[in-house]
Amino acid sequence: MHIDPQEIDPRAVYKLLTGSVIPRPIGWISSISPEGIPNLAPFSYFNAVGEDPPHVMFSTIRPNNTNKDTLNNVLATGEFVVNMVTEDTVERMNRTSEMVPPDVDEFELGGLTPIASVKVKPFRVAESPITMECKVVHHYTLEDHKNGGATIVVGRIVLFHIDESVLLDDYKINMQTYRPVSRLAGANYAKLGEIFTIKRPI
Ligand SMILES: Cc1cc2nc3c(=O)[nH]c(=O)nc-3n(C[C@H](O)[C@H](O)[C@H](O)COP(=O)(O)O)c2cc1C
Repeated sequence: MHIDPQEIDPRAVYKLLTGSVIPRPIGWISSISPEGIPNLAPFSYFNAVGEDPPHVMFSTIRPNNTNKDTLNNVLATGEFVVNMVTEDTVERMNRTSEMVPPDVDEFELGGLTPIASVKVKPFRVAESPITMECKVVHHYTLEDHKNGGATIVVGRIVLFHIDESVLLDDYKINMQTYRPVSRLAGANYAKLGEIFTIKRPI
């Protein structure tokens, strides 16, 4: 079956896309407004982009041509923190996705502990075992004729915080103790399933 995304409703495209591109890692992005109000929200249009130098990207949709608070903060300050989501924090992550006015602190809403970052102003989530302090290097808005499109933000990682409980020798991450959670479609999430190994051809 062929489906032309131009010919179906954007909600249907959303279901096709987010059901097909799975599992998606979740970038739980903390930011801060120029006035100093902390913000925290999850984004599963998120991934790592290269390692030398290390970058991540996330994308926010722009419903009715409006920026989400995260985007406004990140564009205004040029800084954000990625907090990785685990089985222990997934419920609280979900609470921070509530659409609330910009003056609401989602750390409080989610019952999470903000701790100061080292190189950027936004707070980190203390409950997250892996966090990355980032500086914005690029942003680009994908235009859409029906709605507000989406804005991609690329940030350079300037500092990793890795809890020793998830760190093995030689900078490897311990999957058993890390227990990351990814997003599937709609309200569905996934834990790590069976892990298997395939050696790369030489
Ligand atoms: C698991 C999860 C993933 C999400 N991924 C995205 C995303 O990739 N892009 C987006 O615009 N919204 C995404 N959302 C919705 C935002 O988190 C939500 O709109 C949030 O209220 C934005 O907060 P803010 O206005 O403080 O930035 C996601 C929500 C959940 C629960």
